[in-house]
Order: sequence, then structure tokens, then C-alpha cells
Amino acid sequence: MIEPEVSVPAVMRNYHEVLRNDLSKVLAPLAAAGEVDDFAIAWQDYCEAIAVHAAMEDGVKGSGGGSTAMLDHHFDGAAGAAVFAAEHVAEHAMQQDVSAAIRGGPPSVRQAFGSYRAFAEAHLKHEEDVMMPLVARLPNPKAPLFASWCLSAGIAHGGFEHFVAHGVKSLSTFGSTKNTPSGATRVFVHALKTVCTPPQWAIYGSVARRAMPLEVWQAVVAEVPSLVASGDVAAN
Ligand SMILES: [Fe+2]
Ligand SMILES: [Fe+2]
Repeated sequence: MIEPEVSVPAVMRNYHEVLRNDLSKVLAPLAAAGEVDDFAIAWQDYCEAIAVHAAMEDGVKGSGGGSTAMLDHHFDGAAGAAVFAAEHVAEHAMQQDVSAAIRGGPPSVRQAFGSYRAFAEAHLKHEEDVMMPLVARLPNPKAPLFASWCLSAGIAHGGFEHFVAHGVKSLSTFGSTKNTPSGATRVFVHALKTVCTPPQWAIYGSVARRAMPLEVWQAVVAEVPSLVASGDVAAN
């Protein structure tokens, strides 16, 4: 059968949909309801996942320069890596404000998270506005570029299995702004597999498989049977 064409940049872009789901569909309702204990757990999950995503953008010294440096390299500095690295510093400071506010109870969580959410959503939009037009102009094949500049940095950062599990669980539960749960999951997992080596996919494909409901996995592999080409993935 003919599989859908993979969108390699979705390994970065679709994680924005995960982060939007976290902000609007998980954390905001918990903050609004004053359920601070559940908020604290979800907040920790979110912070660990976005740290990996940010490492894939900013790079990890000696292990991949990150997506912004990749775009600067190909387009004569047009992505402005330093601007986004500075936004990450500001965002991280606001993350710490939210973490500190958890000790202050529901009103302080609501206030700190409200400020953080506005900043974080604007940051996602800013990145998309600047980077997506450049990503579209990257030379083909794109998979080796994203593997060596972004995936390698994310794995070197640590917590990559959590990053995959968190993202797949979110997409397979909520979908994305423009896609169903099975559609959004398929796009992300297909991109992830394409940037992985077979040994990497044996690990992260299994993590992805375990993070989504069986019916979503069945819908995903019905469209992309090559996702189960690895026996390790199919067996888990
Ligand atoms: Fe970012
Ligand atoms: Fe991002």
C-alpha cells in the first residue's frame, strides 16, 4: 500500500500541539479548579517535556546544534537563534515562578500560570511565524538534518523517553488544533520514526506504542504499516 508522505519537520512542529494541549486542556482547567496537587504533577510532566523540546531547538554542545542553529546555518542567520534562546531563558524563569507559586495555593497558581501561559503561547506562535517558512525551504532529504541537529540534541539532553511518551499520550488523547487524535499521533510518530535509526526506533517506537490507546495504534499502523517493521516495536 502507499503510505502518506511523511512530514519530517512535524517532529518539532507537532510538539507545539502537545504543549498547547498541556497549557489549555490539562493545566488551565486544573489551575482554574484549584486542584493544586494534580496541577503540580501535570506541571512537572510538562516542564520535563518542554525542556527536551527546547534542547532540540537550542542544541546541546557537542551533540547537535538545534533547529534554530540549523536554520541559521542554511539561511544566513535568518532564524535568529539568539533571540529564541533568550526567549527560552525568560520562559524558564517564568516556569520557576509557577513552580514556586504551587506552594502558595490556588490563587497564586492561577496568577502565575496565567502569566506563564500567555508568554508560552506567544513564544510558540513566534517560533512558528519565523521558522516554518524557513523549514519549508530546507533542502531534501530533511530527515538527516533533523536527526543530526535536533534528535541528537534531544537524546543528549536526557529524558527523551519521557518526551516521546508525554507527546504521544497528549496527541492520542486530545489530537491537535487541526487533526484528530489518530491523525495527529500518526503525523508525529511517522516523523519520529523517519529521523530515528532502526536501533533508536526500536526503543522510542516501543515507548510511543505504549503511550497511546490500542485503537489509536491500530488506526496509525493501518495508515503507516512500516511503523511496525521493527519486531521490537510490534512485540511491545
Ligand atoms: Fe521554544
Ligand atoms: Fe518550540
